[in-house]
Amino acid sequence: MFRSLKPVLGFILAGIICLNATAQNKLPVYLDENKPIEERVEDALSRMTLEEKVAMCHAQSKFSSAGVPRLGIPENWATDGPHGIRPEVLWDEWDQAGWTNDSCIAFPALTCLAATWNKDMSLLYGKSIGEEARYRNKNILLGPGVNIYRTPLNGRNFEYMGEDPFLASKMVVPYIHGVQANGVAACVKHFALNNQEIARHTVNVNVDDRALYEIYLPAFKASVQEGQAWAIMGAYNKYKGQWACHNQYLLNDILRGEWGFDGVVVSDWGGVNNTKQAIYNGLDMEFGSWTDGLSEGASNAYENYYLAKPFLKLLQSGEVKEEEVDKKVRNILRLAFRTTMNTKRPWGSFGTPEHAAAGRKIAEEGIVLLQNKNNTLPIDLSKTKRILVVGENAIKPMTVGGGSSSLKAKYEVAPWDGIVKRMGTQADIKYARGYVGDPTSKYNGVVLKRDLTEPRSAEELIAEATQLAKESDLVIFIGGLNKSNNQDCEGHDRKHLELPYNQDKVITELYKANKNLVVVNISGNAVAMPWVNEVPAIVQSWYNGTESGTALASILAGDANPSGKLPFTFPVKLDDNSAHKLGEYPGKEQVTYNEGIFVGYRWTDKEKIKPLFPFGHGLSYTTFAYGKVTADKKGISQSDKITFSVSVKNTGSRDGAEIVQLYISDLKSSLPRPVKELKGFEKVYLKAGEEKTVSFTVDKSALSFFDDKKHDWVAEAGTFEAIVAASATDIKGKVSFDLK
Ligand code: BGC
Repeated sequence: MFRSLKPVLGFILAGIICLNATAQNKLPVYLDENKPIEERVEDALSRMTLEEKVAMCHAQSKFSSAGVPRLGIPENWATDGPHGIRPEVLWDEWDQAGWTNDSCIAFPALTCLAATWNKDMSLLYGKSIGEEARYRNKNILLGPGVNIYRTPLNGRNFEYMGEDPFLASKMVVPYIHGVQANGVAACVKHFALNNQEIARHTVNVNVDDRALYEIYLPAFKASVQEGQAWAIMGAYNKYKGQWACHNQYLLNDILRGEWGFDGVVVSDWGGVNNTKQAIYNGLDMEFGSWTDGLSEGASNAYENYYLAKPFLKLLQSGEVKEEEVDKKVRNILRLAFRTTMNTKRPWGSFGTPEHAAAGRKIAEEGIVLLQNKNNTLPIDLSKTKRILVVGENAIKPMTVGGGSSSLKAKYEVAPWDGIVKRMGTQADIKYARGYVGDPTSKYNGVVLKRDLTEPRSAEELIAEATQLAKESDLVIFIGGLNKSNNQDCEGHDRKHLELPYNQDKVITELYKANKNLVVVNISGNAVAMPWVNEVPAIVQSWYNGTESGTALASILAGDANPSGKLPFTFPVKLDDNSAHKLGEYPGKEQVTYNEGIFVGYRWTDKEKIKPLFPFGHGLSYTTFAYGKVTADKKGISQSDKITFSVSVKNTGSRDGAEIVQLYISDLKSSLPRPVKELKGFEKVYLKAGEEKTVSFTVDKSALSFFDDKKHDWVAEAGTFEAIVAASATDIKGKVSFDLK
């Protein structure tokens, strides 16, 4: 029986193989992942109608844009970013949709990530948030943000990576790699010069080419060239009179022309203002344009986007050539092949303990110990039996608020909860409110579990706090800013450098009541500290996400040894910051960056201004000794490299990590240059007593400045100094060398 069936089976098998082969041969090129991506792009493009092409260039809902349903090319779904995956919103609204399966892990704000000075933390961050985005079926993550910290009043500094272009460049790249390993595009924002929130939709930024290329662009350039970012978001503001979302200079000349970017340019939400410019000046996808909701309701609003019907009409009439839409669609198809149509991408994961642990680790590495007189910290729990915690930020959830980065976190351990959990069995811990900041309890559908309303007067709150302080062994004040309007928040800048809500007074009164005082400042910005000479211990914490309280408690208790350093300068007063000293800030229709390249420590160095706390500053519970700085040669040629080395020893009794910084100083130059500039850093982990040698190898790129006349980077022959430092003002040693 079986024998007689054999030829028949053989025939059927051959038929299957043959059919399969035909099917394979017929697989359209754009679906064949073995074909080069550019061939697939051209093939898909050749199959599309004009209407299908235009439909890809603008939103179809608040956060999505159309695919090509007929060809099986999926829609694009974007999400904020940059600290966690935003909850779902309604199709056509900013309002939260009220899903029950979209509570994310909130990661620390990017200021904290930058403060770790640890590229491995950045990779871990990107990998983790990328997994969350992937699981939620998003293929564009709206982040990271790398706008440079020009003024401490910028409401969105907490979403960025500080004042130094080198630090931001090095820290942004692994984040992008981590995200994109999940088949999710990182959308680096906001390109470019979005350094303030006041008048962000209208202001035209005037900046000279040196500052543009040396300060404001490097982190974007690194994102594109080293990070291979698949998406960039245009900024709201203008540059050279054109909106950044459709800007000939920024997008066509620099991003695509000079840097060779082949990804998509996405507009900021509502950042498109003109159809012709949007067509010709480098934009690919338009999102969030304003529609009045009446004559242009949800059913047709998207048809009226600048890159929708108006674009289609111009194409149909022949006034605009089809090549213009093809250019955009090529970029968008490339995005699809890299993300949604990559069948090998992983599946992601969401709200996991691993992600929470990653957030906690990053937070522990990013918290900065600013001051620690008398070894006030870590808390010695064998002696400290009565602890008083004061301040609204000890109990206030901070994963909500702040604008588009507001999250619906799966859970959030506030500082108070973290401290009680860690120390509650060893000490009696009390709480006093101290001041009232913002007791808002609802944020776009997220209802806080803790009631923050407080009926008592400021005097009553201070009286209670100081009375309890007198009865305590240690007082921990936890305050700072929050994510309400005019603080660390999108859409508005801060109004002043001082702490809000009467906090300086509360701190001063607490100090009078109990000298054993720790101040924890939670913010994404520098604040004034008029009490700095009194208060023995000061900790800079950040918006640290889901595990913020756990991380803070482990630093305070000494389970984790602080190892973060500041990614921006803390000035004593606003006038010590160059944007404020030289103006302009905030400008009106125009803002001119008169300070040029002298931003942050480049300014305080030049003017010999003593900062409150310098860039790169951060203490540890152990101490480090630096050896002599050496160079492997006396000089280099334009094509050479030179290596500087220094030994660092942990001279204390605890394991710890030190961030060793390399600055380069050009001793004589034809153009004005900063006194020194960061060109290398390494976080080195040392066991108690351990010593390691840290080396930095640089080439002429570390010695160059941007010559605006030549429009090129130039390294001028002459003598340079390699400065090894523990902060911008704590120089440990130098060695000079020549460039021939
Ligand atoms: C912000 C972007 C954000 C977008 C979408 C805009 O207002 O500037 O950073 O990604 O909204 O929420």
